[in-house]
Amino acid sequence: MSLEDQVVSSFAKAGDPRFREVATSLVRHLHAFLADVRPTEGEWAAAIDFLTRTGHTCDDKRQEFILLSDVLGASMAVIDLNHPTGGEATESTVLGPFFVEGAPEFALGEDISGGAPGTPCYLHGTVRSTRGEPLPGAVLEVWQSDEDGRYDVQYADLDQPRGRGRLRADEAGGYAFWTVHPEAYPIPDDGPVGELLDAAGRGPMRPAHVHFMVSAPGHRTLVTHVFTRDSAHLDDDAVFGVKQSLVIDFDRHGPGPAPDGRRLGIPFHTAEFDIVLATVRAAE
Ligand SMILES: [Fe+2]
Repeated sequence: MSLEDQVVSSFAKAGDPRFREVATSLVRHLHAFLADVRPTEGEWAAAIDFLTRTGHTCDDKRQEFILLSDVLGASMAVIDLNHPTGGEATESTVLGPFFVEGAPEFALGEDISGGAPGTPCYLHGTVRSTRGEPLPGAVLEVWQSDEDGRYDVQYADLDQPRGRGRLRADEAGGYAFWTVHPEAYPIPDDGPVGELLDAAGRGPMRPAHVHFMVSAPGHRTLVTHVFTRDSAHLDDDAVFGVKQSLVIDFDRHGPGPAPDGRRLGIPFHTAEFDIVLATVRAAE
């Protein structure tokens, strides 16, 4: 019996069939990988050192393994496996590291920016089911970077949430809020994942986006972003999170009236993003 077969058979008596299936596949693919790349002992030790340092880089604020999963496209692959849209529901993308539980609540039309630096931006749309019915009371969590490409949690001296909030859709499924125009930003690249990107000649940048997490009873919670169509890095997102259906126009306007009747004395943006939630299936 080959070494690989011996290892596979060592899992044959595992009580949990799913564990047996996963372990068997992992061993098969790992041994195929080793046979393919034929690592030297030094290279194998370097690989183990890389993973060890990846673990040591994690703390309660930073998760380097998720970042590694992101830059290898594994996070997006798992999302695609678990959130097929069938072409009807809004597509999903990565949650990212900057979601915070307990974001402040806002009434529709309010400004969630909290004074974050940036050009004012009015975002609005409707939340509907795949049957086209509005979803009144749908909960929207939104969060985003400011004009410097930074999230509130990245400012050591900031103790108030900024550029994040929680809203509820109105009776017609409508939502609207003011914020600032988001900007592109780098993922943390001063750790092992940064070394990997460097070695590949890859950059750490993500295109400008606003994060959404949208939920409604009887529907699958959607985790997604909208990307600004004029952003840099739409073609080389460090975490492969861009889907064309999520790239939308953020129209720029000169000083003057906004869609909600306000008059702004400075330029601003508007963007419309309609959201479609999939129905929860009976087995879920
Ligand atoms: Fe983000």
